[in-house]
Amino acid sequence: MCGIVGYAGPDEALPILVEGLRRLEYRGYDSAGVAVMDGGVRVVKRAGKLSELEDALRDHQTPITGRTGMAHTRWATHGAPTDLNAHPHLDCRGRIAVIHNGIIENFQSLRDRLAKAGHRFISETDTECVAHLVEEAYRGNLADAVREAVRQLTGAYALVVTSAEEPDVIVGVKVSSPLIVGLGKGENMLASDIPAVLQKTRTFVPLAENQVVEVRADAVRITDLDGAEVPLSPMEVEWDLAAAEKSGFADFMLKEIHEQPVALRDTLRGRIDSLGRLNLDDLRMREDQIQDVHKVFVVACGTAFHAGLVAKYAIEHWTRLPVEIEIASEFRYRDPVLDGHTLTLGVSQSGETIDTLEAIRHARHQQSRVIAITNTVASSIAREADGVLYTHAGPERAVAGTKTFVTQMVALYLTALYLAQVRGTLFPAEISDHVEEMQGLPDLVKRVLSLDDQVQALAERYQQARDVLFIGRHTGYPVALEGALKLKEISYIHAEGYPAGELKHGPIALVEPGVPVVAIATECHVYQKVLSNIQEVKARGAEVIAVATEGDVEIGRVADHVLYVPRTHELFSPVVVTVPLQMLAYRIGKLRGCDVDQPRNLAKSVTVE
Ligand code: G6P
Repeated sequence: MCGIVGYAGPDEALPILVEGLRRLEYRGYDSAGVAVMDGGVRVVKRAGKLSELEDALRDHQTPITGRTGMAHTRWATHGAPTDLNAHPHLDCRGRIAVIHNGIIENFQSLRDRLAKAGHRFISETDTECVAHLVEEAYRGNLADAVREAVRQLTGAYALVVTSAEEPDVIVGVKVSSPLIVGLGKGENMLASDIPAVLQKTRTFVPLAENQVVEVRADAVRITDLDGAEVPLSPMEVEWDLAAAEKSGFADFMLKEIHEQPVALRDTLRGRIDSLGRLNLDDLRMREDQIQDVHKVFVVACGTAFHAGLVAKYAIEHWTRLPVEIEIASEFRYRDPVLDGHTLTLGVSQSGETIDTLEAIRHARHQQSRVIAITNTVASSIAREADGVLYTHAGPERAVAGTKTFVTQMVALYLTALYLAQVRGTLFPAEISDHVEEMQGLPDLVKRVLSLDDQVQALAERYQQARDVLFIGRHTGYPVALEGALKLKEISYIHAEGYPAGELKHGPIALVEPGVPVVAIATECHVYQKVLSNIQEVKARGAEVIAVATEGDVEIGRVADHVLYVPRTHELFSPVVVTVPLQMLAYRIGKLRGCDVDQPRNLAKSVTVE
């Protein structure tokens, strides 16, 4: 949430910063701004999407030049998305500029005190007080002044600060929100996420908690909050620039839907030996530790939560361990019963969602072992967990998760089967059968992508719907939730996902003639019951779109439209069934003229509670 980028090097900073913002816009798109060290600090900022800022920069009378600078794209928390509230924010003399991701929780008391001391505030943001705190603390060394300011702040945030007094340095600090340093040759960058630095380098250093970094063209220095130097531990990222481009697709979401077969294959690669046994050393759990697990918790938000729900069915079925799945923002506030015999799985595409991060911190604090399932190398959740299983989905730019959802499910299946392998709850032959079935998923998903014409026709028919219900049973239920979430976030149509059997306990009241109901009706042990639930909504005039297994003739007699998907094991079916629902949301969103990559009010990586 909020994108941050900084540059110090021999090139003109402005185009690099704008390009960095373009690659981070999924983190927030309410307003954007830049500060370049051009004599003094020159700031340009605008409400609206990045294009508004680009227009403003183009219209600027005197070109902005300078080789050090920083930029920000905002997801508003404190203060409406206006020009004034856009970042960067300046101190009283316009000599110090600050950009910020996160929330300063005690900003009001700081603001009151600073205002009383004569500081002038012009925005409604929590960020502005940091510029004045740094101004107050500045005694000739920017990094020291930032350290001094941070001592007075509470909250979870990342800050980047520049000053006209020291025009060759940008100072960053990480307290819970992500910040990485991109290491180039004679140039260095600072960013909240890897895609922003790929234009210059694939080598990066993630900042750890409470670290301060001074980034110059020729040097990067990391210190702790007391000023003690910390050695750099650079890492390489496999992603390249092309992976973060649209590559001929109309939108990132469409491209990412089509990348799913490859993403699934990459996530499965290297984790299965020639005998079909799983090798998950990355989990860093000894066999005796796995044997010792009595209970599993899964914590996640949004789409990752739906992947976690699917995992609950798989883990319980294959390992007979009880599994509790909880929305991360609720988990730690309800005093869950955790101990050294519990295993907590934190699922997060970004690895930075603050609620999930805090949930795994809470779990670790209560002695639970924690495994992260994430797509982002060296993200906060990956680093704070005991072990990590990466989904190899590549960068995902559309705000709505697609390829990361299917790879999260596969990573969770791998984890479940591995637990079963070590605990001996499945025979080796059963595990290798499941593994073989999983290895077929990329091809099945590829086949499903060819449903696009049929999906387009359905989208045209239902694009004006006011409400859409999604129903399913067993693993069809999380798929229904995910289908509804995709539709509402992409097209702004009201949609609800419901367990099909629960519909008659309330939501069926919403069904009236013509209401579309999407029913997940693939082959499974509760198929007949789903058919009965379809009959119930049909009897009340609903128009049913069923997602069913190829070869099923019975479904054609009850549903108005059928999207046929290939047969697979019922625990794996969410991977296949989700895809046409992603496509339906995408096609309806496009027909309604929505910005499918950047839906209103959302951000891809949510780093505020
Ligand atoms: C945001 C995004 C969702 C995502 C959720 C969790 O709400 O818009 O698409 O599912 O955060 O993100 P994570 O990075 O933790 O998977």
